[in-house]
Amino acid sequence: MALRLLRVLSNARIALSYGPSFAFVLLLRVLVLLSRPDIEDAGNRVRDISPAQLRSHYDFIIVGAGSAGAVLANRLSESPDITVLLIEAGGEEPVLSDLPMLYSALQLTSIDWQYRAEPSNKSNLAMKDRRSNWPRGKCLGGSSVLNAMLYIRGNKKDYDNWEAAGNTGWSYKDVLPYFMKMEDIRVPELVGSSYHGRGGPIPVEELRYYSPITDAFLESGKHLGYRVHDVNGPIQTGFTRSHCTLREGLRCSTAKGYLRPIRNRKNLHVLLHAKVEKVLLAEEDDGVPRAVGVSFNRFSLPGVKVFAHKDVIISAGAVNSPQILMLSGIGPPQHLMDKNIEVQVSSPGVGSNLQDHAAMGGVTYLIKSPKEMRPSGAACVLPRLLTINTLRKFVFDKSGPMYGLPTTEAMAFVNTKYANSSEDWPDIQLFFASSGDNADGGIFGRRNNGLNDDYYATVFEPILYKDSVTILPLLLRPKSRGHIELKDKDPMSNPLIYPNYFGDPDDLEVMIEGAKIGYALSQTEPFQRFDTTLHDIACPGCAEYEHLSDDYWRCQARHYTMTIYHPVGTCKMGPVEDVDAVVSPRLKVHGVKHLRVVDASVMPTIVSGNTNAPVIMIGEKAADMIKEDWKLPTVPTYYQYEKMIAYQRSSLYTPHYSWPFRSSYCRPKSHAPYRLVPVYRRLLND
Ligand SMILES: Cc1cc2nc3c(=O)[nH]c(=O)nc-3n(C[C@H](O)[C@H](O)[C@H](O)COP(=O)(O)OP(=O)(O)OC[C@H]3O[C@@H](n4cnc5c(N)ncnc54)[C@H](O)[C@@H]3O)c2cc1C
Ligand SMILES: *[C@@H]1O[C@H](CO)[C@@H](O)[C@H](O)[C@H]1NC(C)=O
Ligand SMILES: *[C@@H]1O[C@H](CO)[C@@H](O)[C@H](O)[C@H]1NC(C)=O
Repeated sequence: MALRLLRVLSNARIALSYGPSFAFVLLLRVLVLLSRPDIEDAGNRVRDISPAQLRSHYDFIIVGAGSAGAVLANRLSESPDITVLLIEAGGEEPVLSDLPMLYSALQLTSIDWQYRAEPSNKSNLAMKDRRSNWPRGKCLGGSSVLNAMLYIRGNKKDYDNWEAAGNTGWSYKDVLPYFMKMEDIRVPELVGSSYHGRGGPIPVEELRYYSPITDAFLESGKHLGYRVHDVNGPIQTGFTRSHCTLREGLRCSTAKGYLRPIRNRKNLHVLLHAKVEKVLLAEEDDGVPRAVGVSFNRFSLPGVKVFAHKDVIISAGAVNSPQILMLSGIGPPQHLMDKNIEVQVSSPGVGSNLQDHAAMGGVTYLIKSPKEMRPSGAACVLPRLLTINTLRKFVFDKSGPMYGLPTTEAMAFVNTKYANSSEDWPDIQLFFASSGDNADGGIFGRRNNGLNDDYYATVFEPILYKDSVTILPLLLRPKSRGHIELKDKDPMSNPLIYPNYFGDPDDLEVMIEGAKIGYALSQTEPFQRFDTTLHDIACPGCAEYEHLSDDYWRCQARHYTMTIYHPVGTCKMGPVEDVDAVVSPRLKVHGVKHLRVVDASVMPTIVSGNTNAPVIMIGEKAADMIKEDWKLPTVPTYYQYEKMIAYQRSSLYTPHYSWPFRSSYCRPKSHAPYRLVPVYRRLLND
C-alpha cells in the first residue's frame, strides 16, 4: 500500500505541472487507484533490483529499457542460464500513461528527458527561442510510454533500400516475420490477414473512442480517389482509422508487453534510475578494443562499474546512443578532441545522419457541430470532454473519451506531385486530429510544442474552444540531415540536437504540397457537411502572404514546424566499406568487439511511417542475431499463431528458472580481471 501511495504521489507531480486547473488528472489518478486494479496492475509491475543484489558480471548488459531495450531483455533472458542486466536512467512507468486521452499530458513531465533542439533560423520560427521541444521517454518502456501509440510499419521499399545499401538480411521479406512476431492483431477485420501476427507481446487494436468527424476524413479520402484499407498490408498508400498498440483499449508499452510478463525471471535484473556514463573498453591481443562493461551514475554516485561476459548493447535511443558512444571515445575524432575526450575508435558517422519526420503544425479547420451531436460535438473540445459522464464511462464501462486519442484519430499516406504515383511509396503522411490547438485552451499543443505567446494569442485565442480539426502534413522521407553532438565531456550534460529541418529546400516544397492535399480534403462533400473552413488568421510573420498561396504555406511551415518525434539514423548501419556506418548489418559497432547498438539510431534511412513498431522489429531481429552469434537457442519466427502456441508448449519455452548467479556460474579466470586501459586507437586517417 505504501508503494501504491508513492506511485500516486509521483503521478501527482505530473498533474501539478499543469497547475490547479488540472485537478481532473489527480481525480483520475485516485479513481484508478480505487476502481481500476487492471490499470494499477500492482502485482505484475517490474521490480528494481537493490544495489545489494546487483552482480559484478552478467552475460549481457543492455543500456536503456525503451522500445528496443525491453524487447532484447525479454528475448535474451529466454534461456534461463543466460544472465542479463537491463539498465534504465528513468524510473517506473506511471499508471496514468495507460490512458490514451492523456497522451498529450505526459510531455515535459518527469518521464520526459525534456530535450530542446538548438535554435534554427530556417524552421520553428514561432517557437520560444526558435527551438523545438524534443520529448524522449525516460522510464521503463522509454518512448513507447510517451508516444501516441500509432502502429505503423513503414513501406516495403524502405527496407528493400536498406538491403540495397549493403545491409544484408534487412529486406522487407526478412523483416516482415519480425513485425508479425511482435504483434497480436486484435482489429477484427485483420485477424485472418496473412500480413499480421497473433499471440505476440504487443496487441494492436482500434481505439475505443472515435469522434464523429473522423468518418468525414475517411470519406473525404475516397472522394480524392484513395482507398480506406490496411496501410500495414500489401499496399500502404491510402487512408485508415488509427490502429494502436493497445491492450483492452489501454496503452501497451514495451515495458507492459515484454517486461511485466517475465518479471519473475531470476536471470534478468532490471536496474532503474541508473544513467550509463560510458562503455568500458579493454585492450585485446590483436589490438582491437573490446567492450567489457559500462559505468553508470545512480543517485549522484558516479563511476559504478558492471561487467559483461558477452555483449554490451546500447539501446538508449537516437539521441543518447551516439552520446554514450562519443563519451566512450568512439566517434568523429576532431569533435572528441575538441571536447577533451581521448579517441579510442575513429568513427566519423556517430551522431550524424540525423533524420526526423517534420510536420507543418497549426493547420486548423473550423467546423460546425450539428445539433444532434451535442453536447459532446463532432470534434473534441477539451472542457466538453472533462465531465462526470466521461469519468463514469471510464470507471464502469471501460469506454468513452478517456479511451480516445484526439491528436490522431485517423491518418493517410498520400502522394504529392513529387512522388511517383505509379509506385506505392507515398511521400506525405497526414495526421487527422479531431481538435485544434485552440480546443485545449493551450495546455497541450501550445505547451508541448513550445509555441510563443504572441503566436498563440494572435492565431488561437480568437477561436478558443471552438469546434475544430487539424490536418497535419508530415514529410515521410526528408532530404535534410541533422546531427547530435556533445556539449562537453560530462555524461550528465544533455547532448546538443541540430534537427536542420528544411535544411534542404526540397523538403519545404514537398511539405506545402502535402498541406494542399489536406486542404483539398477539407473541400470535399463529407467535410462540407460540417461547413469546414480553414481558419484564416495568418500567424505573426506571415500576414503579408496571400491566403492559400504557396508562399503562405511555406511561411506557415517555417513558423509552426513540428517534430513528429521520430529521430533516427545517428548510429547508422552499413557495411564496413561505408566510412559513415557506425554498426554492421549485424548491429556490431565497427572497430570494437562485443559492442552493439540496437535502437532507432541504426536506421540508415528513416522509414515511411511512425517508428515505434520498426524499432521493436529491430529489437526482435537483433535478439535472434545475437543468439545466433553466441550459439544460444533461438526461437524460430512464426507466421502462424498455432505454431507460436506449439512452441510455447515445447520444452524450450518452459518457464524453468535456475538460480544463475551461483559462484560456480562465474566464468573461468581468463575473462577477469579485465585491464581497463584504453590503449587502442584506430589511426585517425585509416
Ligand atoms: C511524444 C512521442 C510520440 C510518438 N508517437 C509515436 C507513435 O504514435 N507511433 C510510433 O510508432 N512512434 C511514435 N513515437 C516514436 C517511437 O516511440 C520511438 O521511435 C521509439 O520509442 C524509439 O525507441 P528506442 O528504443 O530507439 O528509444 P527509446 O524508446 O527512447 O528508449 C531509450 C531508453 O534509454 C534510456 N536511456 C537513455 N540514455 C540512457 C543512459 N545514458 N543510461 C541509461 N538509460 C538511458 C531512456 O530513458 C529510454 O528509456 C513517438 C515518440 C514520442 C517521444
Ligand atoms: C542563419 O543562421 C546561420 C548559421 O547560424 C547564419 O550563418 C545565417 O546568417 C542566418 N541567416 C539569417 C537570415 O539570419
Ligand atoms: C515510377 O515507377 C515506375 C514503377 O516502379 C517506374 O517504372 C518508373 O520509371 C518510375 N518513374 C520515375 C519518373 O521514376
